[in-house]
Amino acid sequence: MKQEVYFDNSATTRTRSEVIKVMVDVMDKYYGNPSSLHKKGIEAEKMVREARNRVALALHCKEDEIVFTSGGTESNNLAIKGAAYSSRRRGNHIITTAIEHPSVLNTVKQLEEQGFYTDYLKVDKNGIIDLEELRNKINDKTVLVSIMMVNNEIGSVQPIKDAVMIAKKLNPGIIFHVDAVQAFGKLDINLNELDIDLLSISAHKIYGPKGIGALFIRRGVKIKPLFGGGGQEKGLRSGTENTPGIIGLGKAVEILEKDREKASEYMNKLKVALYNGIKTNLPESILNGPEPGSEYSAPHILNISFDGIKGEVLVHFLEEYGIYVSTGSACSSRHSSSSHVLKALGVKGTKLDGAIRFSFSPYNTMEEVDYTLEKITKVVKELRTIIRR
Ligand SMILES: Cc1ncc(COP(=O)(O)O)c(C=O)c1O
Repeated sequence: MKQEVYFDNSATTRTRSEVIKVMVDVMDKYYGNPSSLHKKGIEAEKMVREARNRVALALHCKEDEIVFTSGGTESNNLAIKGAAYSSRRRGNHIITTAIEHPSVLNTVKQLEEQGFYTDYLKVDKNGIIDLEELRNKINDKTVLVSIMMVNNEIGSVQPIKDAVMIAKKLNPGIIFHVDAVQAFGKLDINLNELDIDLLSISAHKIYGPKGIGALFIRRGVKIKPLFGGGGQEKGLRSGTENTPGIIGLGKAVEILEKDREKASEYMNKLKVALYNGIKTNLPESILNGPEPGSEYSAPHILNISFDGIKGEVLVHFLEEYGIYVSTGSACSSRHSSSSHVLKALGVKGTKLDGAIRFSFSPYNTMEEVDYTLEKITKVVKELRTIIRR
């Protein structure tokens, strides 16, 4: 039987069976509307409250600081537009980075059409921002800074703690947003210790269901809602709550939190092993992003360029062996343009099109790493001989 190796966990993860079970239960038995006054409604409302509590515990914040959304994209939109609209009278300047997810970059672009202007922080060859540049860009019109914690294509980890300190010191009115969609469940996020105002997470990256996420909104931080409606989620996200999704997210977080640190260490081991193997077997390959194992490298994402071979071709060759990887991010990999993240790192020419992202989960094994290494070595060597002919 053909082996199946799923190394595309940053695109999405397989939903845990325990999560599926509680979601089916909710749809089947606890289907009341949390806003209803009767027993069925109260039951559903209690379950939503428990899920909110789980998420709050994991982030070290308060329950009333969590608003459920339809996922990372909506959380980023609500955070960025919500903060910009509520601060309009104070200023119209936004700072973000050149390597954000499209749900941040395109949202900021929309705001530019409405009179806001943006500075996009550059990154070094490892995909890390320069805090000096951040310091220089902040002015008295800056209302929002949005910086991702972990990049989804190359796994670089930004110095968020220092960035927040700098921003708040220079302009205490700044609202600081963090896209933590790729960081949540992999890194320790303690909102007691980080002066972040808004933080986005998504369930389908942490073995939960698709179409559900949350936005942390610190008490006292004012943002404008994007939807008008029945006023659910304290008026910040109208619409009947996605109870199966919310409870599924709560369950995924509950399981995740039991052994997050161990799981991250384990994924890092897989990543380092695959990286070392590729370096040995295919020395011409190039790492995109920080050195695996270093403090600026997330434990679950490895991005490598196999120069001269198109990433797309490699994805399909590996698929023949049951190995699932992606070129850059899943959301942009169907579009033909090259990765804006790799371009920002200074990657050029054929290396831009030859990048492959491997992303790990605790369900992966060292045997899968060995199998992938064997097959990728074979495929790359074969393709190189064909190209050179
Ligand atoms: C860093 C980052 N932000 C935001 C998102 C969007 O999340 P969702 O798919 O839940 O809308 C993703 C998904 O790939 C991501 O990787």
